[in-house]
Amino acid sequence: TQAHLTLDPHFVVGRIDRRVFGSFVEHLGRCVYDGIYEPGHPTAGEDGFRTDVMDLVRELGVSAIRYPGGNFVSGYRWEDGVGPREERPRRLDLAWHSVETNEIGLDEFARWSKAVGSEIMYAVNLGTRGVQEALDVLEYANIHSGTALSDQRITNGTIEPHDIRIWCLGNEMDGPWQLGHGTAQDYAQLAGKTARAMRQLDPDLELVVCGSSGANMPTFGEWERIVLEETYDDVDFISCHVYYEPVDGDLSSFLASAVNMDRFIDSVVATADHVKALRRSEKTINLSFDEWNVWYVSRYVDVDRITDVTSWPKAPRLLEDSYSVLDAVVFGGLLISLLRHADRVTAASLAQLVNVIAPIMTEPGGPAWRQTTFHPFAITSRLAQGVTLELKLDSPTTPTALYGDVPVVDAVATYDETAGAASVFLVNRSLTEEITIEIDASRLGMSELTAQTLHDADIHARNTLDDPDRVVPAPNTSARLQDGVITVTLPAVSWTAIALC
Ligand code: AHR
Repeated sequence: TQAHLTLDPHFVVGRIDRRVFGSFVEHLGRCVYDGIYEPGHPTAGEDGFRTDVMDLVRELGVSAIRYPGGNFVSGYRWEDGVGPREERPRRLDLAWHSVETNEIGLDEFARWSKAVGSEIMYAVNLGTRGVQEALDVLEYANIHSGTALSDQRITNGTIEPHDIRIWCLGNEMDGPWQLGHGTAQDYAQLAGKTARAMRQLDPDLELVVCGSSGANMPTFGEWERIVLEETYDDVDFISCHVYYEPVDGDLSSFLASAVNMDRFIDSVVATADHVKALRRSEKTINLSFDEWNVWYVSRYVDVDRITDVTSWPKAPRLLEDSYSVLDAVVFGGLLISLLRHADRVTAASLAQLVNVIAPIMTEPGGPAWRQTTFHPFAITSRLAQGVTLELKLDSPTTPTALYGDVPVVDAVATYDETAGAASVFLVNRSLTEEITIEIDASRLGMSELTAQTLHDADIHARNTLDDPDRVVPAPNTSARLQDGVITVTLPAVSWTAIALC
């Protein structure tokens, strides 16, 4: 045995909020149009939504879905997307240099999310708009009836309010690329005013204020401090966003991306708690990690090059990364990092859901399929119930250029006392060596084990239109449970889930 782990049901990090298994649908590329929505597709229902995609979203186990952006939201007029379709305007989407037809808006998306069993996390536009428009969409969405906008919703065919509980106050307002980007002070004041106004309408809303769009932003840390000093009493969450890809072919550092995510989370927690101390506040601000994924940004052709507005396309193929086994192992590691912080990361959104840096791909008129990353998400969402346990992990280390020596094995364990079940998620970050780990689970009192591993001799193998199930998790036949002690061998570059009951 080369690595050891001890589990104790009494050592609890925190209860896992289901919202950690959220995702993100932005009006971007083919996420909405030719993604979840394709009237005329053989599987489409009367409303034009593809039922094959809906089935995959349900299988993925997605809790809350952030909508409608992303960079898109900072130029969006929500009212364009409601009412009779034939009257909805076509607009230029400045974020993605596309044409937005507004065929899908709040009411249609709310029906779709209800059908897939997900909650909406709605983002308001604080790029080109402000307090009044946020109040308007809140009234339209959540007021029962008897006011101009709630009655308009009813006239548009939605009798019951959407009752959206969690709202994002804009998107990535620290990013120079964002429409309406300004200083932290500018944003803090607008977000604070908007939050207070929205709470005047409904004090129980849960509000997410924008943190940095990455820990590498020049204003990271100060942005969080300034924004929270202004909004601390009026919001519940601060957001984090991060995307990983290998830099200059450095796969060892890429495999250790979760080390970076851990540091990012710890830094934002420290900043939020610093503001808490300054304010002598009793309240704790949690993290909404509402954009995370592997994204090959370097392969992305900047849409800003398409300057001729007459040629902006509708639903172009944008950000359609095809994920490998290697990517899925890194991705599984990011889920481990999120779960490890269950006490403070109480919402998260995998960016995104369909076609755009997504676990689910579709072909117009053709099939929908699962990318490699689909599997760690679906399995973790299903098995990770109850609480996250504190771990005693003893692992050999491996050198990385970006993060120094890191443990070869990364792991997190969850425990559900009521169901009498537990799970352990593991990655082996070594590019060359398998590793055997011994897990002392004797204090959990479990008697049965199943283990599955995502791995392939070709770490670059991926699922495609022609070979959609090339990469799937397989039972890990090395796994044993004896006298409460698990032993399992983890192949190089692999992700493993162990279910105990
Ligand atoms: O998820 C893709 C984009 O990444 C989002 O629109 C934006 O918020 C982020 O920069």
